[in-house]
Amino acid sequence: TLPGTVAEPKLTAAAEPLLLNAVRGLDVERPPVWLMRQAGRYMKSYQTICEKHPSFRERSENVDLVVEISLQPWKVFKPDGVILFSDILTPLSGMNIPFDIVKGKGPVIFDPIHSAAQVDQVTEFIPQGSVPYVGEALTILRKEVDNKAAVLGFVGAPFTLASYVVEGGSSKHFSKIKRLAFSQPKVLHSLLQKFTTSMARYIQYQADNGAQAVQIFDSWATELSPVDFEEFSLPYLKQIVDTVKKTHPELPLILYASGSGGLLERLALTGVDVVSLDWTVDMADGRRRLGPNITVQGNVDPGVLFGSKEIITDRIHDTVRKAGRGKHILNLGHGIVVGTPEENVAHFFEVAKGIRY
Ligand code: CP3
Repeated sequence: TLPGTVAEPKLTAAAEPLLLNAVRGLDVERPPVWLMRQAGRYMKSYQTICEKHPSFRERSENVDLVVEISLQPWKVFKPDGVILFSDILTPLSGMNIPFDIVKGKGPVIFDPIHSAAQVDQVTEFIPQGSVPYVGEALTILRKEVDNKAAVLGFVGAPFTLASYVVEGGSSKHFSKIKRLAFSQPKVLHSLLQKFTTSMARYIQYQADNGAQAVQIFDSWATELSPVDFEEFSLPYLKQIVDTVKKTHPELPLILYASGSGGLLERLALTGVDVVSLDWTVDMADGRRRLGPNITVQGNVDPGVLFGSKEIITDRIHDTVRKAGRGKHILNLGHGIVVGTPEENVAHFFEVAKGIRY
């Protein structure tokens, strides 16, 4: 400290959100808990907003609505992480890729990409110019949540974003993106590089505006064989992590891929701080395979939330026991499914928050 200046008091560990302390490997009394897709879908209060504002784009691009929906689960369940209500596709509007999210159908890309000429038309993403509502919403969320939980941002991973824009929407066999990958790999690589530069910048923007940890969703990377994951996903994820760590070394990065059991060790090679496991992986195996430096997140089967309170309790305890003490964020193995009874979600949080190591 320079003479005459007063050092800023460092937040004590106790004043920091439990989720951040757990990722940093501090001694925590229980695992922090939040649920993927906790905002939206199954909540009655969300459906009420949907009646008034039927357009997903409006709900996810209007600051007041984004804040209100993000806070709905926070107000009822008090999770340890409050995720921004948005979508992995939201940045596409700022990259000259028109899209919509249609009720009952999911994402729709109006002009799916299949050529080099189309990739050339994809523009650089400037978050503050294209999605200012995201930064504004995160800033408000930080004030509202006030370090009682961690505010979480998120982005889609390059391969997963590419799968939507090439397939034109959700896909079963991923045949269009595989045709591109295996017949014109250079075209796909240049698209992946554009998403990589853009998403690294988007993570930095989210952190600068209040996100305390950011989850990267590579939901469909596991459609790739390991050798192709190493070609079409891993280098880009690594590049994102390296870029963000240069400017934001303290920002925890979480990586989720669904059905990732075959790829766990490779997911760790990206350099992320947290790997989020789906429920097909035994948590104790996952922990062992990822090693002591990585925090594990997950991984209760979202389907368990349709079951009895006893089963929900049992599966939470099983997961927590297998994860071991510390460096574990309790979560589901994928997003909450539509139709999940809210009282079961309440039970999940009650049991989870009552755990003591
Ligand atoms: O609570 C939260 O987790 C935050 C909100 C959030 C949404 N999408 C809102 C949403 C998050 C984190 C996402 C991420 C997302 N979006 C992913 C990665 C996570 C995963 O599930 O693997 C993916 C692949 C998408 C793309 C997407 N968006 C699809 C496939 C769909 C339609 C299918 C579906 O599940 O409903 C969406 C629409 C969407 N995004 C909804 C919500 C709440 C449902 C539509 C609506 O409520 O109107």
